[in-house]
Amino acid sequence: MEEKKRSSFSGRIGFVMAAAGSAVGLGNIWRFPYLAAKYGGGIFLLVYILLAVTLGFSLMVSEIALGRKTKLSAIEAFSTLNKKFKFLGILASAVPVIILPYYSVIGGWVAKYMVVFMTGGSAQAAQDGYFSQFISAPVEPAIWFVLYIIATAVIVLLGVEKGVEKASRILMPLLVVLSVIIAVYTSVQPGALEGIKYYIMPDFSKFSVKTVLAAMGQMFYSLSLAMGIMITYGSYLKKDGDIEASVKQIEIFDLLIAFLAGLMIVPSVFVFSGGDESQLQTGPGLMFEMLPKVFDSMPFSNVVGAVFFVLVLFAALTSSISLMETVVSIVQDKLHWSRKKSSIAVLIFTIAVGMLSCLGYGPLSFISVFGMAFLDFFDFISNSVIMPIVALLTCLFISKVVGVDPIVEEVKLSSAFKREKVFRVMIRYIAPICIIAILVSNLLSYFNIFVI
Ligand code: TRP
Repeated sequence: MEEKKRSSFSGRIGFVMAAAGSAVGLGNIWRFPYLAAKYGGGIFLLVYILLAVTLGFSLMVSEIALGRKTKLSAIEAFSTLNKKFKFLGILASAVPVIILPYYSVIGGWVAKYMVVFMTGGSAQAAQDGYFSQFISAPVEPAIWFVLYIIATAVIVLLGVEKGVEKASRILMPLLVVLSVIIAVYTSVQPGALEGIKYYIMPDFSKFSVKTVLAAMGQMFYSLSLAMGIMITYGSYLKKDGDIEASVKQIEIFDLLIAFLAGLMIVPSVFVFSGGDESQLQTGPGLMFEMLPKVFDSMPFSNVVGAVFFVLVLFAALTSSISLMETVVSIVQDKLHWSRKKSSIAVLIFTIAVGMLSCLGYGPLSFISVFGMAFLDFFDFISNSVIMPIVALLTCLFISKVVGVDPIVEEVKLSSAFKREKVFRVMIRYIAPICIIAILVSNLLSYFNIFVI
């Protein structure tokens, strides 16, 4: 077989920027706030942070080290080290395939809101029921979804993603600045204090296994873990690139954006919904219901809203481009098709599967899968089922097949490994035991629901 020379990142900063670019996206801005609102606010935030600095840290270090060590992408990395673990690479690769379609549906929602604000529709968008009317319509959300995924595919096909990345390097800091302004604005509104307390102060009576499962799924999703992505990124990292420091920086960046998004959205439930706390349970629509109300109460509401959604659209695009690239390269490797043919096949597949999620709140709302709408189901099966299993098996793969030592050595090639002890204990014992415990107790609780 022909040896391909692997390109590598120009430097560590390039690596951190690329990995952070993949990490920061709708997961932080759209998904994190609605989960935090739903699963008890402060307690969710606390569990999330604890998980990110322990399990998330260890997994990201492992995946990057595995990639750098083997210089291979996920499927080959696992199978090269042990044939029996080929299925793990395949399972990990299934995650982006499941995520891309529904990610693009949400991307379409963002595009729609951007245009609504650009055309002066702030007051309309702020009305109760505006969002639910939009997503339950038969045609409009589908159009936005298809436009969004075609835009993603065109960028991937033309190979101009570098341009988008460059633009987003300027736009992302702007998103942070605007988010701070919006969060400060919300915080000084009457009623916000109670909301901030809910978001920041952990209320231990709200703790449940579901909180942990939701926080764990969110962590995998947001940090792009347990899906082979970081293995691939690691394979491009040079031997002298400090893995531990990179992981820390990626996590801080990711956490900061998620925290800010939560600060912008969660307290606004208390400020703008007249004390109706059941709104906290809204789910995937939370950002789209709350933010227009915030914007509409601000001066220059249409401008603020339009700029905000443009920035979010860019954050979403960089992620969906990278998701699509991943899926296209899986198809290319497996079926030996050209890049163009693979991209078109992925596009058609994504439109077909994504359409279920898109119409699942409207014309297809009579169908439910395990009691969930399609979008919620795809989200659940990837983040709360497949990713924990991949993470668990990755831990086992490292401790039983590769050995923890070679991974630790790989990290030490480029720097001292300050949290080596934590890493060893996490990978061998704590992570696998916790993941199994969480999965089993959740299974049991679902079982109870079915029995009743
Ligand atoms: N982490 C991204 C976000 O927070 C979403 C995502 C999941 C992703 N898997 C990915 C992005 C793979 C790029 C590649 O929105």
